[in-house]
Amino acid sequence: MNLSQDELAILSGSRGSGAARAMEILSALGRIGGAEDMVDVCSVQVSGVSYRNIGPHGLAFLQEWAGQGSKAVVPAYMNPGGADRRLWQTLGLPAEFVDKQERVIKALSKLGIKPTLTCTPYHAAPRPKFGDHLAWSESSAVCYANSVIGARTNREGGPSAIAAALTGRTPRHTLHTDAGRLPTTVVEVGCPAPTASDAGALGYLVGQLLAHDPRGGIPFIRGVEPPEDSSREAWLKALGAAMAASGSVGLFHLEGVTPEAAASGPELQKAAGRKVKVDSLEGAKRGLFSAKGRPSLVAFGCPHASLDELKRLDELLKGRKAVVPVWVFTSEAVRKKAEKSGLAGRLSSLGAALIADTCIVVAPLADMGITNVVTDSAKAAFYLPSHQGVGVCFESQEAAVEAAVAGGQLCASKAPQAASSGGGAS
Ligand code: F3S
Repeated sequence: MNLSQDELAILSGSRGSGAARAMEILSALGRIGGAEDMVDVCSVQVSGVSYRNIGPHGLAFLQEWAGQGSKAVVPAYMNPGGADRRLWQTLGLPAEFVDKQERVIKALSKLGIKPTLTCTPYHAAPRPKFGDHLAWSESSAVCYANSVIGARTNREGGPSAIAAALTGRTPRHTLHTDAGRLPTTVVEVGCPAPTASDAGALGYLVGQLLAHDPRGGIPFIRGVEPPEDSSREAWLKALGAAMAASGSVGLFHLEGVTPEAAASGPELQKAAGRKVKVDSLEGAKRGLFSAKGRPSLVAFGCPHASLDELKRLDELLKGRKAVVPVWVFTSEAVRKKAEKSGLAGRLSSLGAALIADTCIVVAPLADMGITNVVTDSAKAAFYLPSHQGVGVCFESQEAAVEAAVAGGQLCASKAPQAASSGGGAS
């Protein structure tokens, strides 16, 4: 792999031992990935922030690296951690855990990584531009950046993202290259998907269909469009987040919508080696249903909610008070905006709490007595049973709000006769 004079100097310690170690990691990963050289990155998003996931060894690793004195040279942001830094006591989180979580954040901050603590940095920090090279980590953020914005990023691990932050570089391979962004499969959708939860079910199904593609899964999707109203962004987020979860998809092209597919759709489709058809989302929705009783929580914000999504929730509640607790996961940046406008206070008075800095999948739900969750997120519905041992009722945002207001009857009545996964595709 070719390193520039500047990169060789970093490797020799010109920017300190932390940056030298970072360049060593990137060179090794670049060789493994088949990169010929490095590319400058405009921003970095670092995963591996939750103490629940990284534990004492991960914390010690970060503290040691932070002690080497190098700092991020490009804007760098943290993924969600394991606790809401303001509301942890209200939520009943143990002080010892929160202390460890704060130590992780302190070590990353010392490395120059900003404590945005969100999987939607595009809502909380300057939005990247088409063609920008990034080194982002969280799978839904990666899929959104590549597909919806048309920026270029592979899915980085925590250490490789930190290494990119300390050097401003990442190896140029796979999704950083034109060839690595060509679709492998045309997905013809023959059923409607008007809501964000429909988009999530579609993404879940597409991810399953592409999960074992030997060429790596990049779909070119036809026959379906996001809504034109303020729910458009939530729809696109849900589609990508679900296929990243079920199939590790880092990029999708949506005909006439995503930047590359809008500019050169016919040429892109020719590159795909196979074609599959999706004619129903019902099997996918049944596959995401795992609730075993009445819901103890209604959860939104996976990926973290935008201000528009909070406004939509307020509209759907129509001033009615939820009788099942509603938690909406978001970034502190969006929560502050909602507090300033009075929206957060209004939602709180209706039983909907805004939770920041953390994520539904890593929040200790079982310790809080939560056994069944209603959510409109296909990604959360995919992970919660295995990661948290809780059951999920997967619904549209509208139906989930009604379940919160009515006490969950709607969810119970929706239990499928027999669960199956991934039906409706050929
Ligand atoms: Fe974000 Fe956690 Fe969902 S990182 S996408 S809220 S699983």
